[in-house]
Amino acid sequence: MVTSVSTKPQPANLDDLSGFEESPATSPSTHPSSLITQVPYFSSRYGSAYLGDSLELLRALPSGSVNLVMTSPPYALHFKKAYGNETKDRYIEWFLPFAREIFRVLPDDGSFVLNIGGSYNKGTPTRSLYHFKLLIALVDEIGFHLAQECFWYNPAKMPVPAEWVTVRRIRIRDSVEYVWWLSKSPHPKASNLNVLREYSEDMLRLNRRGLRETVRPSGHVIRASFNKIDAGGAIPSNVVESDWDGIPESMMKMGNNSANDDYTMRCKAEGIKIHPARFPATLPKFFIKMLTEPNDLVLDPFAGSLTTGAVAEKLERQWLAGEAVEEYLKAGIFRFEEGESNPKLF
Ligand SMILES: C[S@@+](CC[C@H](N)C(=O)[O-])C[C@H]1O[C@@H](n2cnc3c(N)ncnc32)[C@H](O)[C@@H]1O
Repeated sequence: MVTSVSTKPQPANLDDLSGFEESPATSPSTHPSSLITQVPYFSSRYGSAYLGDSLELLRALPSGSVNLVMTSPPYALHFKKAYGNETKDRYIEWFLPFAREIFRVLPDDGSFVLNIGGSYNKGTPTRSLYHFKLLIALVDEIGFHLAQECFWYNPAKMPVPAEWVTVRRIRIRDSVEYVWWLSKSPHPKASNLNVLREYSEDMLRLNRRGLRETVRPSGHVIRASFNKIDAGGAIPSNVVESDWDGIPESMMKMGNNSANDDYTMRCKAEGIKIHPARFPATLPKFFIKMLTEPNDLVLDPFAGSLTTGAVAEKLERQWLAGEAVEEYLKAGIFRFEEGESNPKLF
């Protein structure tokens, strides 16, 4: 059975977090921290963050209790981040215990959205297949279904490895990250009506001009109703983008170089290390809106600076987060401080 989240057609402005409705004064009836006995590092109105190994956090959660797992684990990078990265040859072995638990904690209509980046093989200008092998293992060994493969186009990614890209000039910039949308059953709860985009100028022009029924060379029949714009917005493509500027249709275009957001400014002011691998809030916002409804539970087991939790809070979803490095959680709390667009901590 296909279950839909909501049928309210509303184009999404994925850049604008101030567009979130204000959280109500009341808390959800049961706080998600009541699902486990572990003591949270901190809690907000809708969620809790836990310091430590998230495998333990996952094991402590009841089966079927999480509607969406939205996360970005450490990638198998050749140049390691400060928090450490698994090697390519050990990556699947390292990740599968997490994946087994993620599968268990999802209900049948739950989703697992995994953001993962590609990587070069050591010493050669060739790309690793580790993330594709992981995808195959998640489906073949764990039992996930691939609901859709999505792409995050990040024009701000660095032109690396320098040797191949900027010195020898034999490779081009890698500006895309993969977003595997996996599901426990073939019919996860989802509604693209919650993430509609503004109609493009072309679509609006077609609508004004009207369209005659025609058959494309590909064989697709274009009906006169093709250009109807009464759905409230255009269906987004699997390249999630935050604005329309002629980027090919299947790209999610979001820069990730925010140097002036509240989180970054507070980290700088307090002399706390800025997390080195945050994803843009638009990424979890897109999937949380499409795949959950208010009060559903969202989990990020590799939470970093708590981007997913902060977005879930603003969208009035319950959330849980796990992170191994205390400094990242400490700074992540900045995202929850009382302010114009931030909900209050308790
Ligand atoms: C790519 S970062 C996630 C960044 C996050 N999406 C954000 O926007 O800030 C991956 C994070 O996973 C954390 N991590 C790695 N292994 C972990 C584990 N076993 N349990 C909990 N956190 C872990 C790392 O410390 C790192 O902060």
